[in-house]
Amino acid sequence: MKHAYFALDPAFGVGAVERRLFGSFVEHMGRSVYTGIYEPGHPAADESGLRRDVLGLARELGVSVVRYPGGNFVSNYHWEDGVGPRDSRPTRLDLAWRQIERNAFGLDEFMTWVRELGAEPMMAVNLGTRGLREACDLLEYANHPGGTHLSDLRGKNGAPEPYDIRLWCLGNEMDGPWQIGGKTAAEYGRLAAETAKAMRRVDPRVELIACGSSDRDMPTFGSWEATVLEHCYEHVDYISLHAYYDPAEQDRASFLASAVDMDDFISAVVATADHVGAKLGRRKKLKLSFDEWNVWSRSRFGGEDSLDWTEAPRLIEEDYDVTGAVVVGSLLISLLGHVDRVGIACQAQLANVIAPIRTEPGGPAWRQTIFHPFALTAAHARGRVLRVEPVAPRQETARYGDVPVLAATATYDAETGDVAIFAVNRDLAEPLALDVDLRGVPGLAVAEHVAIAEDDNTARNTQTAPDRVVPRRLDGARIDGDRLTAVLPPVSFNVVRLRKETPR
Ligand code: AHR
Repeated sequence: MKHAYFALDPAFGVGAVERRLFGSFVEHMGRSVYTGIYEPGHPAADESGLRRDVLGLARELGVSVVRYPGGNFVSNYHWEDGVGPRDSRPTRLDLAWRQIERNAFGLDEFMTWVRELGAEPMMAVNLGTRGLREACDLLEYANHPGGTHLSDLRGKNGAPEPYDIRLWCLGNEMDGPWQIGGKTAAEYGRLAAETAKAMRRVDPRVELIACGSSDRDMPTFGSWEATVLEHCYEHVDYISLHAYYDPAEQDRASFLASAVDMDDFISAVVATADHVGAKLGRRKKLKLSFDEWNVWSRSRFGGEDSLDWTEAPRLIEEDYDVTGAVVVGSLLISLLGHVDRVGIACQAQLANVIAPIRTEPGGPAWRQTIFHPFALTAAHARGRVLRVEPVAPRQETARYGDVPVLAATATYDAETGDVAIFAVNRDLAEPLALDVDLRGVPGLAVAEHVAIAEDDNTARNTQTAPDRVVPRRLDGARIDGDRLTAVLPPVSFNVVRLRKETPR
């Protein structure tokens, strides 16, 4: 059997586990909102139309932050259309996804929902067809205590207390040719800087996110970030990254190595941001907001122009299999491993649209395979992320050359003394024997080893078989002296939890 090895020592850490890494995303797109989280008249909906079954699953998923209302949708959105009495809200054309938007769900409904969920809101402002003035208006409506037209309007609409929303995205994917009101890097950089300055006047406590490239394969990747940040470095706190890994356009070994690409992408953006900071003579270091990431067979999407005017269509409702779940697990490992610089991450999206939760209108809600690695990681990553440097066999991939078969990270909770190891075996056929040196964390016992792994890697969860793929307990993980041994099945995501047994 192949072997891999690493050592754990709390003296070598990357940083504290950031709860904001377990973010998600709700866009007015397809059935993400309508018949996803919101469906008046559904048997599980409350009096506000919020589906309690979906809320329950989102809580179980462990979502900490939710980005809203887009995505591409935001670049043509008038937030005012979605507040106030429902019968006077206008029906509009959403140009991003060619949808009919009735505006039954808007900011106030979102805030009710996100508070019920117990998560932090992250709003995006429209810098496509609108600008600084409307962004400040929205912020005034959301966060100003009262005594002004817009803050009093919030009160009239049923929310006298300010929402106190801290996280604000300055537009979305402004480099994308598909974006309504897309910009050049210089145009956007100036707009982001001026909007940020004005928004901080409205509320100095906001944390602002500038748009990085929509994708690292964009022809302007790197130069976009550099130019944008030359204009707005001192006014923003984060630069965004988006990445979707496509199982349909590559071989399985390459797809399983997606996190190698994510690691590299993060390093490239850190280097670019730090280069601009150095050139500008700033000590401040920007953080990264990985505010859209997931697995998505994007090459199968026919493009925005292939869509026709409809309401809440079944749009990019990806069915995830075991391999997709293992890749999602490896992407979470990558994000945790960069917690020193990545401060926010949002899996895109939450319900129906490339999502861990699937629903049927008037019917059930269920967990897709990718639900499980997210829920396990959000539940068990506690304390500090340790520096893990695996020594592992390598395998050849068409896209990324030779890559390690093991992806791994670990967290150490100083309060309880417990350790959680998150590990992916990328090998398509062979199990991997893992050997961990625990001399730095003595006195541990194995609490459990759970894995997402099936003989059939194409297995999926469906409406009729919603629990075909679930985390399964594995036997065989042992601690002998200061060494942990465990066997990771081929194509698997694993969590090995170690409990503190004896005092140090
Ligand atoms: O998440 C789906 C879409 O992907 C978002 O609207 C956009 O920002 C990205 O291109």
